[in-house]
Amino acid sequence: MKGIIFDLDGVLLSTDQLHYEAWKKIADKLGVPFDKKINDRLRGVSREASLEIVLEKYNGYLSKAEKEDLCNEKNEYYKELLHTLDEDTIDPKVRETLAFLKNKGFRLAVGSSSKNTMTILHRTGLEDYFDAISDGNNISKSKPDPEVFLKAAEYIFLKPEECFVVEDAEAGIDAAVAGGFCPIGIGLAAEYSKTRFPIKDITQLKDIVFLKI
Ligand code: BG6
Ligand code: MG
Repeated sequence: MKGIIFDLDGVLLSTDQLHYEAWKKIADKLGVPFDKKINDRLRGVSREASLEIVLEKYNGYLSKAEKEDLCNEKNEYYKELLHTLDEDTIDPKVRETLAFLKNKGFRLAVGSSSKNTMTILHRTGLEDYFDAISDGNNISKSKPDPEVFLKAAEYIFLKPEECFVVEDAEAGIDAAVAGGFCPIGIGLAAEYSKTRFPIKDITQLKDIVFLKI
């Protein structure tokens, strides 16, 4: 194995609370229930697909343009909340693990559905660890489609079978499997049946990446 593709939200840092707060404002405005359990279902899912989940209990009709406005409004709230991120947001174990893997010669990439990926990497000072970024801006199909990971592999000049994908979402593990990558699951994805290597802590990557698979 020569490369490791990292999901961003839920793997390199936790943005759950920020997504939650931003979607909650939209849900409150529409008068639909929204809680942490529903928020968990938004992991790995694109902004537009997330809105459809938020709208499941909404009885009215919304046009395509109105839905677009709601997505933009959510993103404006979310971007304001991203101002709270800085280098201290990142668990030192993440930085230490990325530095270790880079130092061992692995090519590292980000594969995230988020269109805010660059802002987040920049604010947290993580961008220099990565050889390539594939995100919501360079794909037409979101996870569970493998496109974001296939592009990431292409950007680091590797084949899917030469790369691990580290994910916290079932949709992301499905995408990795569909693309022919070796899926490593952290957080909720550690419990998922399609996960090849479940981990509790990101530092466990230091051992897994050297396994012959
Ligand atoms: C994923 C998150 O990384 O990005 C999802 O897990 C989110 O919850 C998706 O909906 C899209 O993010 P953004 O920043 O483009 O709205
Ligand atoms: Mg994620």
